[in-house]
Amino acid sequence: MRSAYTTPEVALSARRPDELDADLLVVPIFESSSAGDEAPLDEACGGAISRARASSEFRGKLYDTFPTPVIAPGWRTRRVLLVGAGKAGDWTPERLRRVATTAGLYARQRHIERLAFVPGASPIPTATAAQVIAEGVCHANFDGGSYKTDDDKWGWLQHVEIGVPDGLKAQAAVGRGCVIGEFTNQARAFSNEPGNSLTPRVFAERAGEIGKAAGLGVEILDETKIAALNMGLLLGVARGSSEPPRLVVLRHEPANAVPGVLLAFVGKGITFDTGGISIKPAQDMDRMKDDMSGGAAAICAIAAIARLNVPVRCLTLVPMTENMPGGRALKPGDVLRSAEGKTVEVLNTDAEGRLVLGDALWYARQLGATHLVDLATLTGACVVALGKTTSGLFGTPPAWVEQVHRASERAGDRSWPMPTFDDYKELFKSEIADFSNTGGRPAGSITAALFLKEFAGDLPWAHLDIAGTAWAEDAKPYQPKGATGVGVRTLVELALDAGTWSKLNLRG
Ligand code: BES
Ligand code: MN
Ligand code: ZN
Repeated sequence: MRSAYTTPEVALSARRPDELDADLLVVPIFESSSAGDEAPLDEACGGAISRARASSEFRGKLYDTFPTPVIAPGWRTRRVLLVGAGKAGDWTPERLRRVATTAGLYARQRHIERLAFVPGASPIPTATAAQVIAEGVCHANFDGGSYKTDDDKWGWLQHVEIGVPDGLKAQAAVGRGCVIGEFTNQARAFSNEPGNSLTPRVFAERAGEIGKAAGLGVEILDETKIAALNMGLLLGVARGSSEPPRLVVLRHEPANAVPGVLLAFVGKGITFDTGGISIKPAQDMDRMKDDMSGGAAAICAIAAIARLNVPVRCLTLVPMTENMPGGRALKPGDVLRSAEGKTVEVLNTDAEGRLVLGDALWYARQLGATHLVDLATLTGACVVALGKTTSGLFGTPPAWVEQVHRASERAGDRSWPMPTFDDYKELFKSEIADFSNTGGRPAGSITAALFLKEFAGDLPWAHLDIAGTAWAEDAKPYQPKGATGVGVRTLVELALDAGTWSKLNLRG
């Protein structure tokens, strides 16, 4: 089996564009340039840039690419790739990250291994630019075809040199970008893995290996320990499968941590979701191999946080099981008792994510969490509401949700706040138990979030519904079809910013 990704070596240098030595020099180009900035490069390329602009062959349209040879004898790199950067006024770190991925994918398709990257003058601070370029080129170095046996594959980026005049100050940012990029790719590799190879036991074992390698505390609870904790919701979902469930606990406990904070990530780890007895239609059911993407993000983010020595205590909890319609499976109408003691009537066995997360959120509180964030491919309703590019963001109090939102914006993982009014709670009331596990079609992503809230106690809690964003259905220049690794960067950015939010009083 092929490895799904490699992390290129990324270096900063203060060399001028003509001194950078690579196989391809990447330069973002805005739609309307102040011709002065472009002049030296245009001249080195024998006027190709101004000619392309004049003929409209290349106008700097966002993510367009235009390769052209370098004519000037003094330039070390003999080819330039112009990448459209859109309108200068709309330039953001996220666009720069995507331009880097676009260039990386372009190069890999042609087996070009050494890139030089000149971000050029912009209001984006050098450190931010360096970090997002590193993240972007790492993102390009992912291959979803792990099980292909032909060798006609793309090349890998080996080396990327970022040329910035004041570059050497941003060394740490490049390192950060590479670690974040590496673990985003690891999360994508997990999501891409089929259900027959990534069973709950295998997922737990791999999470443990990644955790150990990153220096995390690792604990893997098997079905016996899960039963001892009375996790009736997790065990209920696992009943229909012949694979036993697991609960992975990873801990980052740095010596110099922000006092009084234990940031907990809880991720949905359904390694395959058939829907159970409330079985899903065959069409697109294969996609449900990625129903552990929230869990993968929670695992990979805490590993990145450990590798970066981020000074905040963190905890990751991932309940792992298949949702299968076996002979002992949950039946609609069954009542389950959660570890916390609350009872749930299971009206639809396909609403399994909220069940396993309910027990895990409770356990995060038992382990001393002070701040909760959960990530889950939770509802089709969220995809209807927000589409494929924006995750649903829910939670309380608003000040905590705002922190998570800002982290997601910095990360380029777009999210948007959704309401969690109490009025919606009547949609999932039950005649027989404390509540049911589904509120039907209206406000489906909100009732799912409110179900989770029942298990968050009075802690600051945020929930990201990544059902739409975890998997790209259409290829873009900056994002091939398949797993996106959504959430990893958001969680790392949130942890990096703990110095700010740890001072807020978030408890009612
Ligand atoms: N894993 C699915 C949600 C999902 C759907 C993710 C489509 C990605 C794409 C989840 O477990 C589920 O089946 N949710 C149900 C809930 C319903 C039965 C209340 C849904 O959204 O239909
Ligand atoms: Mn389901
Ligand atoms: Zn599911």
